[in-house]
Amino acid sequence: MEVVIVSDAKAGGELIAGAMAELLRHKPDALLGVATGSTPLPIYQALAATVGAGGVDVSRARVAQLDEYVGLPAEHPESYRSVLRREVLEPLGLDLDAFMGPDGTAEDVRAACEAYDRALAEAGGVDLQLLGIGTDGHIGFNEPCSSLASRTRIKTLTEQTRVDNARFFEGDIEQVPHHVITQGIGTILEARHLVLLATGEGKADAVAATVEGPVAAVCPASALQLHPHATVVVDEAAASKLK
Ligand code: F6R
Repeated sequence: MEVVIVSDAKAGGELIAGAMAELLRHKPDALLGVATGSTPLPIYQALAATVGAGGVDVSRARVAQLDEYVGLPAEHPESYRSVLRREVLEPLGLDLDAFMGPDGTAEDVRAACEAYDRALAEAGGVDLQLLGIGTDGHIGFNEPCSSLASRTRIKTLTEQTRVDNARFFEGDIEQVPHHVITQGIGTILEARHLVLLATGEGKADAVAATVEGPVAAVCPASALQLHPHATVVVDEAAASKLK
């Protein structure tokens, strides 16, 4: 695992967007795994700026979703499909044909999860997977004590994660779904390059456990230590508890 400490979130976003642009120059139809939440926004902004300046052609890029709420209609503004359309696809000039994700409204959620794992494999696998990290060390929505070998499946959000995400639902925790479909840790580890961005002091404990703690299900992100090509980009605040 390589750890890169940057001055702030903007610098982290630019660094990672640069790596994504480089990948797309070598592999124009690369499959990019994308996360939602606040952390990756500087990445998406920097990549869109590079595209806007003619620095890279993303017209053949493909985009895969990391996780999705269960039960929110796809057109709900906070479904992750809607969020990613707003934050990633539209700024990059991509349409939904370039996008793949699990069906959070499927009647048979289990079958939808298995179908998504199969679809990722049939698409050739994720080339570069972006990850954020929860204050509790989750990646995707693999909350603490998720199996490190887990596949895409339905998970129950912890109360803490629902509190954290209430800001996207007018601050009203009642509107935050209880369940999500998330790529499993085993699924995530199949991507060829994992890139985790963490910014702010609130992530410092989780980053220390990820980078310097034992590989253990209590900190799902520690599974990145098992991956041959994992990059953890942190700002100084998020790095503040590293030894
Ligand atoms: C979202 C996701 C989550 C977030 C994490 C951090 O798709 O996979 O693991 O990355 O909850 O969220 P932020 O960036 O909002 O702190």
